[in-house]
Amino acid sequence: MSSLQPPQDTRNGKRMLLNHPGPGDPDEQTPYSSYLCSEVLHTLQRPLSDSPAEPAFMVNAQVMELYFGLIVHEVRTAQGELRSEQLGQATATLRRTAAHFRALNGNWLSLSWMTPVDFGPIQRGIAEVHGRRQFSALQSWMFRWMAFLLGSRSTDGLASLEGTPTRLRELREILGQPTLYDDVLGLLTRSGHPISADRLQRDFAAPYVPHPEVGEVWRTVYQAPEEHGELFALGETLADIAEELTTWKYRHLMSVRRTFGNRDGYFGEPTVAWLSPTLDEIPFPELWTARAAVE
Ligand code: HEM
Repeated sequence: MSSLQPPQDTRNGKRMLLNHPGPGDPDEQTPYSSYLCSEVLHTLQRPLSDSPAEPAFMVNAQVMELYFGLIVHEVRTAQGELRSEQLGQATATLRRTAAHFRALNGNWLSLSWMTPVDFGPIQRGIAEVHGRRQFSALQSWMFRWMAFLLGSRSTDGLASLEGTPTRLRELREILGQPTLYDDVLGLLTRSGHPISADRLQRDFAAPYVPHPEVGEVWRTVYQAPEEHGELFALGETLADIAEELTTWKYRHLMSVRRTFGNRDGYFGEPTVAWLSPTLDEIPFPELWTARAAVE
């Protein structure tokens, strides 16, 4: 076999691996491949169509999944640091998180050339294997976890996970736990900016309801950044994260517009109409509203 002809798994009559040499001998590892699991990593791209666009779509979606997971890890680390009063460390962790988000959003550039003609065959390939109405990116449980940690309480996507009850149960548990913002409010209180107990011990599974009392705390911090330097730095880092999450949603929406239009999605509703309102769910609400009161 020529080196340009990789071994192919032709299940479903489709090429299942990208055009590289394919799986190596699992017993043969270098320290590099052992550390990065690169021998496994390069066997995880299994396009379902013959579309030349699918490798780029699949690899970018996989990279984004990895970033969702990394961001979840960082945010949970920051929550632990906030709970143990390590404000400087938590801000450093969240600054790292904002940097990951920027790189995640840069990924959209690698898909910026896609048109409906590129996306159609990919969608048909997926539908052939998984069924027309069975597949949805709402099934990205890692995205949902990230969104929950950053404050979303939308359960719209959960029904699509009924086929994976363990993940569904985990997500329902996560939904009942404090968000990053809840931990920030706890830290603000312990730093001498008291916030009422009913806002701190709320029902975490319910959507957060913004309150002027919290807005006043942020206004105080932003009014005198030299006096509240550490909290100001925390606030600006949270603002970076909120902006980058919203940027991800915006770039996703524009990619959907360019490649799919306003066709019906998983719910049977026009996709653009369903996705657009999610752009208004900007995390850490009083961090934004308080700015109007800063003089
Ligand atoms: C560029 C072509 C893309 C199209 C046409 C597209 C289409 C859609 C549609 C129609 C939805 C709404 C749910 C549904 O009906 O299934 C959705 C949601 C979603 N997509 Fe995409 N998508 C694209 C790229 C991506 C990529 C590259 C990712 C990266 C993993 C991704 C991740 C998601 C996630 C996480 C959601 C849920 C968003 C939320 O709940 O707010 N999509 N997409």
